[in-house]
Amino acid sequence: MDIRLLRASDIPHVQQTNITNLPENYFLKYYLYHALSWPQLSYVAVDLSHTPKHPNEPPKIVGYVLAKMEEEPADGVQHGHITSLSVMRTHRRLGLADKLMRQSQKAMVESFGAKYVSLHVRVSNKAALHLYRDTLQFEVEKVEPKYYADGEDAYSMKKDLSFLE
Ligand code: ACO
Repeated sequence: MDIRLLRASDIPHVQQTNITNLPENYFLKYYLYHALSWPQLSYVAVDLSHTPKHPNEPPKIVGYVLAKMEEEPADGVQHGHITSLSVMRTHRRLGLADKLMRQSQKAMVESFGAKYVSLHVRVSNKAALHLYRDTLQFEVEKVEPKYYADGEDAYSMKKDLSFLE
């Protein structure tokens, strides 16, 4: 498995991975906006063991993290934001999400001087909550009622990145 920076040519495959794994989906141009504005922050996991059936077959993307810098931070503090993270069912519990998140966090500090990273997650999303809270040491900042289109609440979480400075 290879973790590498997102390329523009990956975007349709990342979008497909997102649609497969999450109800929060985005237009292609939103992915492109991330890739062009903050090319250092979004990563993909590629399955290198997959044998292409023809020479032009695209890489097999099995996970991604789509990340950005907050453009107008309400608190005036430079910080990153995880827009979306997912890993294909066939490739879960291999540490891919952990690696994708750590790469992105490191780049937020090195390239943009981020002080912290934020994200939203469904209150019912046990796997993601374990990852964020227990493995990556994010903290719940607040609950945002009815944050999602179906009415579910979100935890607004953040993690201090000063340990990476
Ligand atoms: N149950 C409990 N804990 C879990 C689970 C699970 N099913 N999956 C991951 N974790 C936690 C564990 O603490 C794990 O550490 P361990 O394996 O040492 O116990 C840790 O996360 C790291 O696991 P990874 O293998 O790195 O996680 P994985 O690559 O499987 O991806 C993810 C986790 C992204 C949550 C995956 O399950 C997924 O894609 N789910 C559907 C999409 C999703 O919910 N994305 C997050 C939405 S929030 C957002 O996008 C900002």
